[in-house]
Amino acid sequence: MSKYDACDITNWPITAPEYGGDDGKNWVGRPELADPSEKSQWWLFKPAKYGLMTLPGSVPGARYRRRDDHVEKIVSELADLIGLPAADVEVAVRDGEEGIISRNVAPKGWDLQPGNTYLSEFDGYLNCDVNDRPRNRVGHNVTNISKLLQGKPGPPDTAVAEWEALDVFVGYLILDAWVANTDRHALNWGLLDSNGAARLAKSYDHGSSLASGASETRLRQILESGVEGWSQRALAHRFEDGKKKTLLDVAWEGLQLSSGRAKEFVDRIGSLDRASWLGVLEGIPSMSEVAYTFADELLAANRKRLCDGNKRLE
Ligand SMILES: Nc1ncnc2c1ncn2[C@@H]1O[C@H](COP(=O)(O)OP(=O)(O)OP(=O)(O)O)[C@@H](O)[C@H]1O
Ligand SMILES: [Mg+2]
Repeated sequence: MSKYDACDITNWPITAPEYGGDDGKNWVGRPELADPSEKSQWWLFKPAKYGLMTLPGSVPGARYRRRDDHVEKIVSELADLIGLPAADVEVAVRDGEEGIISRNVAPKGWDLQPGNTYLSEFDGYLNCDVNDRPRNRVGHNVTNISKLLQGKPGPPDTAVAEWEALDVFVGYLILDAWVANTDRHALNWGLLDSNGAARLAKSYDHGSSLASGASETRLRQILESGVEGWSQRALAHRFEDGKKKTLLDVAWEGLQLSSGRAKEFVDRIGSLDRASWLGVLEGIPSMSEVAYTFADELLAANRKRLCDGNKRLE
C-alpha cells in the first residue's frame, strides 16, 4: 500500500466533534483506540471542500471540487522532506466521502491550546476565535509571538525538540512562504501544555496552500500570465497589517527577531532536488495536470524567492 492510498475510515467510530475551524468536523479513531485515553491516536477527518465558480456580475456558477484535502497531504509530505514537524496526514474516505485525516499533534499527556488563547493576554490583541473574524489581525505579529515563545522548546519527540520554539515557528513561516499558505492565523498554530509546561506544537492545517481554493480555470489563467507574478502577491493577511506584507516578508521578520537558526530550512529547501517534490505531487492519484503543473511551478518560483532573499540577508 502506498502512503498516498486512501485509508478507508468508514468503520472508525467518531470519537469527538471538533468545533474549531470552518465547518463542523469530527475526530475519529481506529475502533481499538476510540477510548478518550487514546486521544493522542485520534485523527481529525476533514472532508473535501467545494467552491462555486463566479460568473460575470458576481453571479455564482457551477460547483467545483477544491483541492484543500490534497494540498494538506502534499504539504505534510513537503514539511517532512525538510525536517519540519507537521501533523501526519493521510488521504481518507468515509462512507464514500473523500477527504484527509490529520493526526492529533498533542501527544499523550499534552493539551493543544491555540496561539490565540495565549495572545489574548497581550495588550491590544484582537481575538480571532469569533464568528466575525477581524479583517486586520491586530496583535498577531512576530514581535508578540516571539515574546510568547521565548524560553520554550520545540515540539516533543521531533528532530527539533531541543530547538528554541521561536526558531521552529520561523521554520513554519518559511514553509508557508514556500507553499503559499495564506491561512496561518492564531488558531492554526498552537502550544502544547502539560501541567503548566508549554512548548510549540507541530504545524497543522495547511489546506489553504498552493492556491487550493482556485478553480482549474483560474489556475490556467495564472499559469498563462506566469506564476512568479502571482506568487509575489501571496500576502500574509492573517497577520497584523498583513495586507501590506508578503508571506516572505513575515518569514524574514521572524528570521531577524530570532537566532536565525531557521535559515537551515531555507537551505534545505534550496538543496532539494525538484524530483523529490514531484514525487509527492505524483503520489496524489487524482491530481489534474493543471494542478500538478501549477504546484510544481509555484514551489520552484517560491524556492527561488526564498533563496534569493536569503543571499541578500547574508
Ligand atoms: N492535527 C491536529 N491536531 C490537533 N488539533 C488539530 C489538528 N488539526 C486541526 N486541529 C484543531 O481543529 C481545529 C479545526 O481544524 P482545521 O484548522 O484544520 O480546520 P479548518 O476548517 O481548515 O480551519 P480554518 O479554515 O478556520 O483555519 C483547529 O483550529 C485545531 O484546533
Ligand atoms: Mg484551521
